[in-house]
Amino acid sequence: MPSVSLSTAKPTTARADALILGIRGDDDKGDLGETLDLLGFTGEKGQTVTFPAGEAAKASLIVAVALPEEPTAEDLRRATARGVRAAKTATSVAIALHPAGVDEVEAIAEGVTLGSYRFESYKTKKKGAAKKPTLKSAAILTPFARQSTATKAVERAAVVAAAVNTARDWVNTPPGDKRPADLVELMTAHAGTDVKVSVWDERRLAKERCGGILGVGRGSDSPPRLVTLSYEPADPVAHLALVGKGITFDSGGLSIKPGASMQTMKLDMAGAAAVVAATVAIARLGLPIKVTAFACIAENMPSGGATRPGDVLTMRNGATVEVHNTDAEGRLVLAPRHALAAQAKPDHIVDVATLTGACVVALGSHTSGILGNDEAFGDTVLAASKSAGESMWPLPIAEEMQGIVKSSSIADLRQHNPKPYGGTLFAAAFLREFVSEIPWAHLDIAGPSFNEGSAFDYTPVGGTGSGVRTLVKLATELATTQ
Ligand code: BES
Ligand code: ZN
Ligand code: MN
Repeated sequence: MPSVSLSTAKPTTARADALILGIRGDDDKGDLGETLDLLGFTGEKGQTVTFPAGEAAKASLIVAVALPEEPTAEDLRRATARGVRAAKTATSVAIALHPAGVDEVEAIAEGVTLGSYRFESYKTKKKGAAKKPTLKSAAILTPFARQSTATKAVERAAVVAAAVNTARDWVNTPPGDKRPADLVELMTAHAGTDVKVSVWDERRLAKERCGGILGVGRGSDSPPRLVTLSYEPADPVAHLALVGKGITFDSGGLSIKPGASMQTMKLDMAGAAAVVAATVAIARLGLPIKVTAFACIAENMPSGGATRPGDVLTMRNGATVEVHNTDAEGRLVLAPRHALAAQAKPDHIVDVATLTGACVVALGSHTSGILGNDEAFGDTVLAASKSAGESMWPLPIAEEMQGIVKSSSIADLRQHNPKPYGGTLFAAAFLREFVSEIPWAHLDIAGPSFNEGSAFDYTPVGGTGSGVRTLVKLATELATTQ
């Protein structure tokens, strides 16, 4: 991770490999007007151009990044990341984006760390080829540099961006290297002493009647695990329960996926990655919010012992569920966790899951769905996602779904809707059967959790760390509004 500092230096005198210079419209081009025009820099959103600084600045390169006249924090976060990526092999950058306040400084600092992320653990250094240098330091140029609120903002940004990058690392790790026991180890090591961790193995899961997760994990020779993290500050103002889907690989089980759809299914633990990384970040920030997080970890595989379509599972709350499609496994691992989460008597429950392809059909690959049982809490989560800069949008749990959930001919509930419409809504209606009266929001991050295209803004290829920033922002907001 690059070290991020603040400096009152002027853009022209700051020493660095590259100067990232924000340009807000034509009037802001100053002495660089002719150069920028020749390079075809129109100031259009997203544009960056790189050129040698010459006499214009002490830095070797200038990376001009287009900004709107009045950029939001998210505009600055993205522009910073674009600048950092355009600076390619620079090991130090100075960033002159003229933040208007401390929130903007924080967004820029996040942009540096999020934008310079790379996952290279599996790249072997080729003989003779020098490894691409990584960004080591970034100085944000601002007159607020000496204010303690600005320094604190940079520290907060480091914690949050590191959490996002940790979730990205876990998602990017190949599925054979993060089978349930391995993932538990990664998560436990990350939690360190900041939060308490307890792990249920398959024997304990059986004793605790967790039929859903055991049913999903049965086909794998690496049995399921439930990880519970708890962070308990001295005088918490609220208690937040988090639940994350942690399927380390989703082959579909006996309802096996076609090869192409299976290719990215190491992403299916992104929800668990988000809740664990966010919980540790909330603890490291010392927010006065008690957090209990559940990561439901299993591998969904076909085998002679796997759950079959037609089988009936008995869930922790006693409800029986007829399985129709073993590829709709997420709702089965999450549902009992909701019962446990409710047992902890939190004020709010949020679950995060790569639950349905239908959500990607509905909202595209950059927007998560928000569903739940409480409109006001849904609005709070939506507001948190907006200020964190993560795109989310509400979807309803349409009434028609409730009847279908209850329409199994042999069990209490059916797990899968035979009609291929509104799959995200049906999955949420199924989960709702296991949630009590506690305000609950369900985030379906199937689209944004993994970027199959090329990198853009601060979003890298592969795991994106989707959900982490919204959860931390939500906890921050609950801490100030309770
Ligand atoms: N993990 C998938 C959902 C998913 C799809 C996540 C694409 C990310 C990208 C989930 O377990 C799944 O397979 N869902 C099925 C549900 C269906 C069988 C009702 C789906 O979306 O096709
Ligand atoms: Zn899945
Ligand atoms: Mn599936």
